[in-house]
Amino acid sequence: MRILLDVDTGIDDSLALLYLLAAPEAEIVGIASTAGNVAADRVAANNLAWLDICRAPEIEVALGAAAPLAVPLRTTEDTHGPHGVGYAELPPTTRTLSPRSAAELWVDTVRANPGEITGLCTGPLTNLALALRAEPALPRLLRRLVIMGGAFNHPGNTTPTAEWNIHVDPEAAAEVFDAFSGAPQRPLVCGLDITESIEMLPLHLTRLAERAGSTPVETVGPDDPITFRSATSNPIVRHVTDAVRFYFDFHRSYELGYLAHMHDPFAAAVTLDPALAVTRPATVAVELNGALTRGTTVADWTGMWGREPNADIVVGTDPAEFFIRLIERVGDFAQAVYGEES
Ligand code: BDR
Ligand code: CA
Repeated sequence: MRILLDVDTGIDDSLALLYLLAAPEAEIVGIASTAGNVAADRVAANNLAWLDICRAPEIEVALGAAAPLAVPLRTTEDTHGPHGVGYAELPPTTRTLSPRSAAELWVDTVRANPGEITGLCTGPLTNLALALRAEPALPRLLRRLVIMGGAFNHPGNTTPTAEWNIHVDPEAAAEVFDAFSGAPQRPLVCGLDITESIEMLPLHLTRLAERAGSTPVETVGPDDPITFRSATSNPIVRHVTDAVRFYFDFHRSYELGYLAHMHDPFAAAVTLDPALAVTRPATVAVELNGALTRGTTVADWTGMWGREPNADIVVGTDPAEFFIRLIERVGDFAQAVYGEES
């Protein structure tokens, strides 16, 4: 499967990237760096750094637009840390950015490989919307699109009704859902109602370290001092532990428990294996004007608008199965990359 990844890296975006790098059945053909959790240049730097840590082959990383289509950028360092990767301090990299923009990466890649590219968006939809303006045939040229975004019959995480990725750039999201009306393949949409059931716990990190053969095997907890940094031997496991521990602290500060919602890696897993998700077709539109509801995804499940469905919304999954896959795949990958060195 040839995947174009569009991310706002981001702690959970980082794990989505690792999940795909670890997947023998996936080839990442390019990474679009979208402004969202942190600024676009920081997203791009994080993507390049993760590729280095994973000793990945050359993968094109393109810089996205600095701001959403119609509103100023809002970032969320309180959720993802000062650099977007929690407490992790990713080493400097000598990898460089593509001369192409993220929108150009989308258009050129999909045009050159009609029917072959699966797009996975785990950030705001700014660059995909810009690409659609340049190439309106993109929905027909893509093999499939998977989106982490929206909240369906469920509260938002940014406003009472809106989810972060959609709320950062509602105009872009509206353009994307409109563009996929009548497309041969409906986008698969992973909304908060499902991704908030993907609860990562300290035990999952412990199992990841065990699976990777990383020592010492650590179990992080809410009483760890803020200055604690992982000392486990495998660099992938070490940086993931530092990143995710920040996400645990963030969720705990909102009284959600000492856990972290793994929105984006779940979308990556569904991209590779749609059978992990139960879906239901609906027509999705994005509210752009509501004084209280701007950025809300509205799903018409029963055809009240008289419009064809433009999304397959994920309505069910097996979180335990997801975590088995995450731990096995990323754990084995971490061990394979560093082997005896760690
Ligand atoms: C989404 O918002 C971001 O903060 C996460 O990376 C995820 O993509 C969840 O609402
Ligand atoms: Ca994200």
